[in-house]
Amino acid sequence: MIIDGKQAAADLRAELAIEVKQLRQEKNITPGLTVVLVGEDPASQVYVRNKVKQTREVGMISEQIKLPTETSQDDLLAILDKLNNDPSVHGILVQLPLPQHIDESTIIAAIVPEKDVDGFHAMNSGRLVNGEAGALIPCTPQGCIILAKKHLGDDLSGQHAVVIGRSNIVGKPVALLLLQENCTVTIAHSRTKNLAEICKQADILVAAVGRPEFVQADWVKAGATVIDVGINRIELDGKTKLVGDVDYAAVADVCGAITPVPGGVGPMTIACLLKNTVEAARRFG
Ligand code: GUN
Repeated sequence: MIIDGKQAAADLRAELAIEVKQLRQEKNITPGLTVVLVGEDPASQVYVRNKVKQTREVGMISEQIKLPTETSQDDLLAILDKLNNDPSVHGILVQLPLPQHIDESTIIAAIVPEKDVDGFHAMNSGRLVNGEAGALIPCTPQGCIILAKKHLGDDLSGQHAVVIGRSNIVGKPVALLLLQENCTVTIAHSRTKNLAEICKQADILVAAVGRPEFVQADWVKAGATVIDVGINRIELDGKTKLVGDVDYAAVADVCGAITPVPGGVGPMTIACLLKNTVEAARRFG
């Protein structure tokens, strides 16, 4: 089975459009998301354009602040301070990566946790670790869980989940979410020994390593659910092609279900960003 992330994201956006309408009618609140982009990174520009478009499509207010590469850290902090105090802004997202002279963790810490729709602030990640209510959860990990449930149903308890990757954006939070779902969780990474053997034990395999077509068919248990977080651009016959972290063609024959690239986890990330913004706006009201 191919898990259709495009469809799942469209379904989620349709639900959010209804919630946005209700928030406006019942509380006179229109959720607002402001995306801050510093510099000219081409991939970031594409992501930001998609975020703005989809935010508007579900009826929310979308603002975009584009700043030149040479923007100082202090100027960026001043902008965030304004957004933190603006009641029409419910969600703030600073597109990563930032230029070298700006310290990412300082910027993430400067966004008030209630508007941190990326879920990267220590308050939100701490709440996720503690299993406390009120955390805004990172978007890509949320998308991974929704897609796994599309195949396995809502109860993931007792499944052995293997996550390859330990980043703060995907690997760590997705492992915590799987634990919250009562999975038995293994986090593997670049220093893991016997990676293939460990992956082969997985009922749910999440690949978030950023290496094109890294996961091979003989690493995957028959019938496993494979969630491919990778977005890698490779050159093939003189053309650029988008591939995941999983050798899709080979693994698709072995596994029970797999997310394609593109059209899997990618579209879910933005849909979950919109979900977090609606959630932040609802709490605000
Ligand atoms: N750059 C790549 N992915 C992300 C993301 O999820 N959030 C932000 N802020 N920047 C990113």
